[in-house]
Amino acid sequence: MGTGKWITICEVGTRDGFQIEAEFIPTEQKIEVVNRLSATGFSKIEVTSFVHPKAIPQLRDAEEVMSKIERRPGTTYTALVPNDKGARRAIDAGVDKIHTVLSASESHNLANVNMTVAESLEKLQAVAQVAHEAGVPLHGGISTALGCPFEGEVPLRQVEFIVGRLVDMGFEAIGIADTTGMANPAQVKRTFEYLMPKYPDTHWSLHTHNTRAMAIPNILAAMDCGITDFDSSIGGLGGCPYAPGATGNVCSEDLVHCLYEMGYETGIDLDALIDTAKRVEEIVGYTLPGQVMKAGKSERRYQVPHHVAERLAAL
Ligand code: COA
Ligand code: ZN
Repeated sequence: MGTGKWITICEVGTRDGFQIEAEFIPTEQKIEVVNRLSATGFSKIEVTSFVHPKAIPQLRDAEEVMSKIERRPGTTYTALVPNDKGARRAIDAGVDKIHTVLSASESHNLANVNMTVAESLEKLQAVAQVAHEAGVPLHGGISTALGCPFEGEVPLRQVEFIVGRLVDMGFEAIGIADTTGMANPAQVKRTFEYLMPKYPDTHWSLHTHNTRAMAIPNILAAMDCGITDFDSSIGGLGGCPYAPGATGNVCSEDLVHCLYEMGYETGIDLDALIDTAKRVEEIVGYTLPGQVMKAGKSERRYQVPHHVAERLAAL
């Protein structure tokens, strides 16, 4: 197509997805999936997380995965960290960028990282120091920013307060995350329209979960506000073990397909992505939510039934 409209997608399936798998995904298979995702052309991949191995045992092999993946030039390899210990581990393992995690709501932050929001912000100050010393850029994700499974609506002023603190610490990029798929498109638009003019130098992104089938509509609403960076997950993997009811992220190949049909560029080879989704389905051993890998692309055509062909021929 080629309209010159570029959307950047960060693939998060091997982190947000593999973290909640019931079975530990063998390290070699994680590496295989990251390598396949790199080959499809993603410019950003959130490979794993450097958290406490007891909190997320599924990603206890973070160092080994980071050290063994093949680095495609042009791809930024990131990992999620909750504190300075995680940041040091991630930098030692060679990440290109650090993604931090804290929640806008107290209850989810306590459930997820065992800290109040104020304690998390203190830890992120330490993360920022470690990252700045190492010259590694920072992206601050704000979980439950569009709704909390414990508290419900999260005041926009609370999100704004956290954004302000992160900006002061030197975070150049901030991700608004809808952790359990509670957001709707009008709310997404309201949120970005409120925050963007207040922090014009911040690079924004949106992290969605498709729990209530609103992920792609939410992304389109954010695009209307000028957002061009989104997280998605191969096959629609994803979920947070500390957020009840959380299910998969927006599915990468469904999103790439939608954007392609609309005339946007992502740099991602959709056919290779669909093949990768099928391979991931084999690895996890159950049917993933992704729809395009089942239905085929919109350009798929079926044979006309015989009696219709006869009528057509007679026209
Ligand atoms: N990686 C490895 N170990 C870590 C760590 C990290 N990033 N952060 C802390 N630890 C270790 C400490 O060294 C300490 O070890 P010790 O007991 O041997 O001295 C121990 O964990 C306790 O440290 P503390 O700071 O008190 O951590 P905690 O037990 O309160 O746990 C987190 C806090 C943030 C480390 C933990 O809740 C966590 O990893 N959560 C991640 C949740 C997540 O990834 N959710 C999904 C993503 S949305
Ligand atoms: Zn998520």
